[in-house]
Amino acid sequence: MESKIVLLPGDGIGEEVIDSAKQVLDAIEKKFNHTFTYQTKDIGGAAVDKHKNPLPDDTVQACKNADAVLLGAVGGPKWDNNPTHLRPERGLLGIRKALELYANLRPVKGFAKLLHASPLKEEIIDGSDLLIVRELTGGIYFGQPSERRDNGNAVVDTLTYTRAEMERIIDKAFQSAQLRNKKLTSVDKANVLESSRFWREIVEEKKSEYPDVTVNHELVDAAAMKLITNPSEFDVVVTENMFGDILSDEASVLTGSLGMLPSASLSESGVGLYEPAHGSAPDIAGKGIANPMAMILSTAMMLRYSLGLHTEAERIESSVEAMVNEGYHTADLHVKDGKQVTTQEMTQLIVDYIQSEQLVQS
Ligand code: IPM
Ligand code: MN
Repeated sequence: MESKIVLLPGDGIGEEVIDSAKQVLDAIEKKFNHTFTYQTKDIGGAAVDKHKNPLPDDTVQACKNADAVLLGAVGGPKWDNNPTHLRPERGLLGIRKALELYANLRPVKGFAKLLHASPLKEEIIDGSDLLIVRELTGGIYFGQPSERRDNGNAVVDTLTYTRAEMERIIDKAFQSAQLRNKKLTSVDKANVLESSRFWREIVEEKKSEYPDVTVNHELVDAAAMKLITNPSEFDVVVTENMFGDILSDEASVLTGSLGMLPSASLSESGVGLYEPAHGSAPDIAGKGIANPMAMILSTAMMLRYSLGLHTEAERIESSVEAMVNEGYHTADLHVKDGKQVTTQEMTQLIVDYIQSEQLVQS
């Protein structure tokens, strides 16, 4: 199979982890006889520095023509004081919008070997395996342009959603639940926000189309608490853009580190974008110690969702799991009796395992 992949390293550790993803894809290419071709494009702060634009047109065009896009991370203190249109995050939000990536899937699955690395008690996280389905191209992130009023003494951010925008993400979540444990938790703030009341109505309307899925509603504050006190109660969680942003960082600690959490951002028919849920970690950038696993697991999601290569995706996932089980970890994780390795060592271990004759463990 021949596939065109666009690489968007971005900023901070983005470059290092994209390099890891590329090495993993090289190994998959060889082992399974595929041809992957790459184009590397600028986004985020790197693009601001080079082109005075966090999302150059050329980047958007390349992504639109690709089969899939891999993104590292954007942002850093260097650009913190830039005006809005020159902020790295604009690049990320812009590409999500340009490719209509409305559905962000963030699976959170604890690895047995890492349970004790979580800040939660082992017996609490044990058995947790959930998927956050976050709406990604609407809500307060994309309202009318935010503005300061009254000589800078007041501010407006607006939250807008259409029925169609809500329906498609809610459908996606129901369908994801059908492929998992058939339990859907819809998270909102219906006791305060009109947008949440509308969201809840649509979830209720949709229930009859998916009779095999059990649905419950949670207010976002209660959901935040239950994620910590009883995470194994969740299967699929669906929520709007900003709640999903916050809850997915919170949920990521279940796995011991944000450095383990992959994500897929999907459109209705076009290209998908895959990125770790972590940020650009400027404090450790360039030191060779970043955890490449969230990026590598995002690459597995790319193979599965955009290229339909399921065996290959499983090969990557089981190789990551095998290395974690062997006790290998990067500096972000504190593993009892573990073997701490660098970004490149971790990548090489995973690559070697992919290429080895070891059977894929299920
Ligand atoms: C994420 C990030 C982004 C977001 C930022 C960098 C704009 O936190 O992907 O979760 O808020 O969506
Ligand atoms: Mn976030």
